[in-house]
Amino acid sequence: MCGKKVTISLIKADVGSVAGHYMVHPDQIEVARARLEKARDEGLIEDFYVFNCGDDLELLMTHWRGENDPKIHGLAWDTFKEVTEKVSKKLKLYAAGQDLLVDTFSGNVKGMGPGVAEMEIEERPSEPFVAFAADKTEPGAFNLPLFRIFADPSYTAGLVIEEAMHSGFTFRVFDVLENKYVDLVCPAEIYDLVALIGTTGRYVIERIFRNSDGLLAACVSTSRLSLIAGKYVGKDDPCMLVRCQRGLPALGEVLFPFSFPHLVAGWMRGSHYGPLMPVGLEDARCTSFDGPPRVVALGFNLSDGRLIGLGGSKPADLFADVAFDRARSIANEIAEYIRRHGEFMPARLGPEEMEYTTLPQVLRKLSNRFKEAHRP
Ligand code: F6R
Ligand code: MG
Ligand code: MG
Repeated sequence: MCGKKVTISLIKADVGSVAGHYMVHPDQIEVARARLEKARDEGLIEDFYVFNCGDDLELLMTHWRGENDPKIHGLAWDTFKEVTEKVSKKLKLYAAGQDLLVDTFSGNVKGMGPGVAEMEIEERPSEPFVAFAADKTEPGAFNLPLFRIFADPSYTAGLVIEEAMHSGFTFRVFDVLENKYVDLVCPAEIYDLVALIGTTGRYVIERIFRNSDGLLAACVSTSRLSLIAGKYVGKDDPCMLVRCQRGLPALGEVLFPFSFPHLVAGWMRGSHYGPLMPVGLEDARCTSFDGPPRVVALGFNLSDGRLIGLGGSKPADLFADVAFDRARSIANEIAEYIRRHGEFMPARLGPEEMEYTTLPQVLRKLSNRFKEAHRP
C-alpha cells in the first residue's frame, strides 16, 4: 500500500454512558474493538484504536479509501449502532444511542450525529500526529489552542525560527450557522482570523494548511448537533487531528497551549462556561457539575498506515504528565471561581447559545405583568 495516500479518520459519538453523562462502559469499547478488528482482518481498514473521552466513544482508523468514504463511514455508523444495541440498551446505559440522530445511514455520518475529523495525506518518512478528543464542550473550543499552535510566535517558536513554517499557515474557518467556509492566509490575515474565530460558537477552524506547499496540517470535527437536530440533543464534543514535527509545529509546541486551561462553552447542560482541563485517559471523565470539560491527546506515528504507539495497544497518553499538573490545578481553581457565579452571566452562556432554557416559558408566564415604562 506504500506510495498511496493514507487516510486517518477519527469518528466519535456519544451512544450512552454509565451513571449519567459520565463515561463509556468497558463493554462498549470491547464491542467497538471487535467490530473494527473484523474490518481490519477483512482489509477494509489498515489499523484502528478505540478510546473514550468521558461519555464519547472515539474510533481512530487508518485506511486507503480517502475522506468521506461511504464504506468507512458505514463501518463507523454500524459500530455505533452495534454498541448501542448490544451494550447501551442491554445495560440500560444513560442516553443510549444519543448521537445517532437518524434511523438509516445514507453514505456519510456527517450531518447524522457523529463528529468526524478526517485527513487524507501522503505519509512522510516519519509521520507523527496527535489525536485530540474533548468532552463537555464544542468544536470552537479548539480555536484558541489552534491559533496559538499555528499562528502565534509567542507559543510556537518554529513560526519564527524554522524555515518551512516561516511563511505561515492558512486557516479554513467554517461558519457553522450558514454552512459556509473561508480560507484565511496567515500571518497576513491574522487580524481577520481572530475577528472571526473569537466567536467560538459560530466560526470554527476546520482545517489548517502549510503555506509553503499546501500540506494539510490539522483538521477538526465541526458538527453542531443542536443545529442538525433542531433541538438540544447533547453536546457535540469535538475531536481533531494535528500532524507535527519536521516543518510543522513540534509535539511540544502542539501541546503547550493546552497548559492554559481556557474557558470553553458546554459545561453542564451545554449552557455554561468552564476551563478546559488537559488530562490523561484515566482522568477523562467528567464529574463535578458534569465537568470541568476535559481534553485528551494521544500521540502516534504512522508506519505504512499502521498506528504506532508505545507497544501493544498503548498510545502515548500525552497529557498524563506532571508537566500538566499545574494546568489541572489552575483549571480546578477557575472552575471553583466561575461556579460561584451560579446562574449569572458570564458563567452561564448567553440566551442564544444555551442548550437548556426556560426563558421563553418565563417570559410567556410574565407577559401580562410587564408594564410599559415611561421614561422622561
Ligand atoms: C451531556 C452534558 C450534561 C447534561 C446534563 C443533563 O454530555 O453535558 O451536562 O446536559 O447532565 O442531562 P439530561 O438532560 O440528560 O438529564
Ligand atoms: Mg452525553
Ligand atoms: Mg460527551
